Amino acid sequence: MSVVHSVVSNGSSRGSSRTLYLRLQADIEAAITEGRLKAGSKLPAERQLAEELHISRTTVTSAYRELEAKGLVRGYVGRGTYVCALPEPANVPFAWRGKMSTASLRLSAVQSTSLNRTSVDPAIISFALGCPALECFPVEEYRRIEQSILAKFSTERLGLGALEGQPALRKAIASVHALRAKQVLVVAGSQQGLDLVARTLIDPGDYVIVEKPGYFIALQTFLAGGARLVGWDALRGDIDELEKLILRYHPKFICTTPTFQNPTSRTLSLDQRKDLIRLAVRYRIPLIEDDPYNTLYFDSPPPRSLRELDEHGVVIHLGTFSKILAPGLRVSYILAPENVVDLLALAKERASLFTAGLEQLILAEMLGVGLLSAHLERLRQEHQVRRNAMIDALRRAFPKNILNFTAPMGGLYVWCGLRRDLKAVEINRLAIANGVAFTPGELFYPDGAGVAQMRLCFTGSTVSRIVEGVRRLRVAVDSAIRSPQETSRGQESSEDDSLRVHPAR
Ligand SMILES: Cc1ncc(COP(=O)(O)O)c(C=O)c1O
Repeated sequence: MSVVHSVVSNGSSRGSSRTLYLRLQADIEAAITEGRLKAGSKLPAERQLAEELHISRTTVTSAYRELEAKGLVRGYVGRGTYVCALPEPANVPFAWRGKMSTASLRLSAVQSTSLNRTSVDPAIISFALGCPALECFPVEEYRRIEQSILAKFSTERLGLGALEGQPALRKAIASVHALRAKQVLVVAGSQQGLDLVARTLIDPGDYVIVEKPGYFIALQTFLAGGARLVGWDALRGDIDELEKLILRYHPKFICTTPTFQNPTSRTLSLDQRKDLIRLAVRYRIPLIEDDPYNTLYFDSPPPRSLRELDEHGVVIHLGTFSKILAPGLRVSYILAPENVVDLLALAKERASLFTAGLEQLILAEMLGVGLLSAHLERLRQEHQVRRNAMIDALRRAFPKNILNFTAPMGGLYVWCGLRRDLKAVEINRLAIANGVAFTPGELFYPDGAGVAQMRLCFTGSTVSRIVEGVRRLRVAVDSAIRSPQETSRGQESSEDDSLRVHPAR
């Protein structure tokens, strides 16, 4: 009959009633620990086992109780006794990874190594993260405003405020953009904005058109929301190509960064923007304008934003203080039609009840007194100095056949192509060991391309660190060239430019 019966019916369970129950218990315990009795299997009923083994029911009851005390079985009134999963040996950490959803494991190892470590280790010069010149942050003015707000501070302010954002900040942002406050939703970073867009618009299996290459955390966010990504060539910006993609995939939405795009720093012309709006309206496809860099130009301001050109309410615009003040503030905003703001706010409630209240009040005041425009002037100048320093250093350090790039006209990034046999992920590994980091191109593509490309942020490091960082980068590239066996698999994606689409989860 049962495993238990065969385990104990070899006669070992004979003797005095005390030794009998201990033996029975030991036999069953051995069967559990050796895996002959699996977790979840049911032990025979006490009466039944007693009859089969010709022993008293008390003996079986005692053995089962002993096993339960050891955590090996669990008895349920009216349902019987079941084998438990074996306890983990001492000091073995809980295996969390096996519990994680497939979507949450999508972030590649490349991403975590290149970004997390390098952003917190001061010994590493990081060209990896997109950070403005924090040395320009208006510390004094910020402190003054903070103190004046705190002087009037009442404990009420320590509670949660409006989910959609502090009224003062919504009003200040609305007035900059000539909108109503109800069209503004304050969020904790554009990243949260993208997440809310994903939660609100994407049904699993929907196609979403993204730029190729494009901001990689947006790609990950849409994938995690169950989207299938379709790449639109960011540098070509060809509207006919986009229309073909729309007709073929019927996407749920199109996400674009029209100005100083991350990672390429390209800016769409006014005509391209108008064409984008035209297509979006014609095919009734929402346009997500993720636009953190539009005030960070060097010579002339970019064309009007998609939101400004939109007469139909087809655009959801994401703006942020991260790239013009400091990413650590975590205050950004979404501009959208009121009914869209309402739905996004509901999604926000599930993610975070409120966005840092004091920061919001300080930013409202900064906007109100025009502090931000003075700061932007200074920031643009400093960014230009750093752009020049990086371009000069790169030109000096690398011949064109090893590294090519064009000088960006704004934004934060220099987008570089390496010699085709070099692999950016490998070079980044060598570079980090040598004290400098960047973001490998592969991360920015939905289809595994970009192997020999890399993104360097030129704004987040001082000029002297830029010069030193580029020198270290050259050393890393040289050592990759010297050991081609490690990088020889780094051919640019063998595919032609035809589209590949990521599967949904
Ligand atoms: C295009 C784009 N969108 C969104 C973000 C996230 O910005 P935030 O710091 O506001 O979350 C970034 C940051 O690099 C970005 O480049």
